[in-house]
Amino acid sequence: MKWIIKEDYEACCAYAAEQIRAVVAAKPTAKLGLATGGTPVAIYRLLAAWHQAGSVDFSQITTVNLDEYVGLSPDHPQSYHYFMQQHLFSPLQLTPAQTFVPSLDLAKDLSDQAGAVDEATFAGGPPDLQLLGVGQNGHIGFNEPGDTLTASAHLETLAPSTLEANARFFVEGESVPTQAITMGMQGILAAGKILLVACGSAKKQAITALSQDGAVSTHCPVTFLKLHHNVEVVIDQELADCLPQSL
Ligand code: GLP
Repeated sequence: MKWIIKEDYEACCAYAAEQIRAVVAAKPTAKLGLATGGTPVAIYRLLAAWHQAGSVDFSQITTVNLDEYVGLSPDHPQSYHYFMQQHLFSPLQLTPAQTFVPSLDLAKDLSDQAGAVDEATFAGGPPDLQLLGVGQNGHIGFNEPGDTLTASAHLETLAPSTLEANARFFVEGESVPTQAITMGMQGILAAGKILLVACGSAKKQAITALSQDGAVSTHCPVTFLKLHHNVEVVIDQELADCLPQSL
């Protein structure tokens, strides 16, 4: 696992965006696994600026996203469909055929819809690069801590701490969805390269668990990245203390 420490959030995102640019430059038809949340916002802003300036050609990429809340329509401002459209798909002028964001309608067959996520993840090969953030409790995608984790895409009930952390994105009084559909651990770990970005003291517990030793625990899903051979973790100065002296 390669650790990169940058001064602050903007510098972390600049570094991560450069990694994405390098992947696309080397392989214009790259498949990118994408994340939502607050962390990737500045990364996507840079990619959009490079597209606008004509310095990177994103026209042949395909993308697959990690997850989506259950119960929000694609045009709901807090849905991950809407987020991706606003922050990346529209700015990069990607067509719907180039992108895939999971969705789940509880009135329809669950296994079909979860199967569609795995199909999008693996069809034509898994992502060349998977961009990840991490939840305060160590979740990746929406794979929440527990006695077991799930390999394939599935419906997940969100942990109370996740609901609390993500409530900041919703207007006061609006309830945060309690369930999500997420890519499973197999899909995440299948990517050729994983690029995790974490900033701010709220991520200390997760980053400590990821960096301190070789332990892998279902109670902190991000630790499963230790099983992958090509992971780069980009953290800000606030999280640098979490790393053991040996790194
Ligand atoms: C959300 C998303 C994750 C994201 C995490 C951290 O719940 N499902 O993919 O990495 O929370 O979000 P943030 O970057 O806002 O801290």
